[in-house]
Amino acid sequence: MSKKRVWQILLATLLLGSLILTACGSPAPVEEEAMPAEDTAVEVFSWWTGGGEAAGLEAMIGIFNTDYPGVEFINATVAGGAGTNARAVLATRLQSGDPPDSWQGHAGQELIGTYVAGGQIEPLNDLYEAQGWLAVMPETLIPLISQDGNIYSVPVNIHRANVMWYNPAVLEANGVAVPATLDEWLSAMDTLQAAGVIPLALGEQWTQLHLLETVLLGSLGSAGYDGLWDGTTDWASADVTAALDNFTKVLTYTNSDAASLSWQDASQLVVNGDAAFNVMGDWAEGYFRELGMAPETDYGWAPVPGSSGVFQFLSDSFTLAVGAPHPSAAAEWLTVAGSKAGQEAFNPIKGSICARTDCDPSLFGVYLQSAMDDWASNTVSGSLTHGVVANDSWKSEIDTALGLFMAEMNVDAFQTALVAACVASGPCQ
Ligand code: GAL
Repeated sequence: MSKKRVWQILLATLLLGSLILTACGSPAPVEEEAMPAEDTAVEVFSWWTGGGEAAGLEAMIGIFNTDYPGVEFINATVAGGAGTNARAVLATRLQSGDPPDSWQGHAGQELIGTYVAGGQIEPLNDLYEAQGWLAVMPETLIPLISQDGNIYSVPVNIHRANVMWYNPAVLEANGVAVPATLDEWLSAMDTLQAAGVIPLALGEQWTQLHLLETVLLGSLGSAGYDGLWDGTTDWASADVTAALDNFTKVLTYTNSDAASLSWQDASQLVVNGDAAFNVMGDWAEGYFRELGMAPETDYGWAPVPGSSGVFQFLSDSFTLAVGAPHPSAAAEWLTVAGSKAGQEAFNPIKGSICARTDCDPSLFGVYLQSAMDDWASNTVSGSLTHGVVANDSWKSEIDTALGLFMAEMNVDAFQTALVAACVASGPCQ
């Protein structure tokens, strides 16, 4: 939206407010000096501090700076993959009434169950209407960012969670074909382990949750996996036991120092040739590119075994805080975040595809072009780790159960804890 348009909307809102006040018997003439001064700054909060993510954000900030040269962009990022630290800092700020103007939140239960439920973000219907976004955002995404007819965020991208990255040379040197099924994967990892290669690179706990959700998907199929979140798949079932057994087996092929590695450290093991596979969302592609690695040569990709034909997605979206210190500049930031130019600058570097449906595919590399095709043709499931399918309390109970499991490796106890988590916070209540 042009600056002029943003101000037209704000002025119209102010005018409407003054008319209502007048009608209530409190005449409030709209005087020049009563107008708010135009915001000169906007604070935007995320956890994109490196590894391709910061560079993607910088590209979008570049568009913002060109469009709104009078507004200082305050880039309030807090390091820690997948928001591990950032969301704790954000929660503290929100509790103490000190919100950033806009923050990154995942479409789905994270947004609706936390920020909308907590009354912490503003509806953006006017902005959607002014920008014509309903015509260019995927229809399937809108319900995940809406409640009671209000739309609460601006999605900047679509990421894929169920990607298995691999090192083509390491596979070839060991006579291993790219596995498509869980059995093929386990047998490939046997061969690689015997050859002294780390079969599967793994990092800190949230990446373990990420691995778990993709193995659940690969084991249960999309309908079985989706059913975990709507109550139609029984967490106590033999199918879930089998999926957890698969997860247990997969873990035997991982590096022992996983807990001390970031997602970048773990995925780098693959492109360095120290590990054969890594399961990570496609922000890893942004990182590989930043490292100067070449697609199909230094790294290859395939759906996590068992999940071919399913696109397990998540979407980063930006919000407008209730009580934002700079509401007009926040609207300007959101305008860039939802724009074609903003998304075309951001996504090819971030390693994601546009949320908008009208981006130019030729701006994207070969991996992201394949992701666009899959997004358009695959069955779609949502990510647990990245906020789509479960609210924060359910996710955190699952995460706690996973932490215990990683220490004890007791599948029975893990499944019992997962059943209890569904009863406490999910649809099994
Ligand atoms: C996700 C986020 C991605 C990426 C990833 C790793 O939660 O949606 O955009 O930032 O964490 O940091």
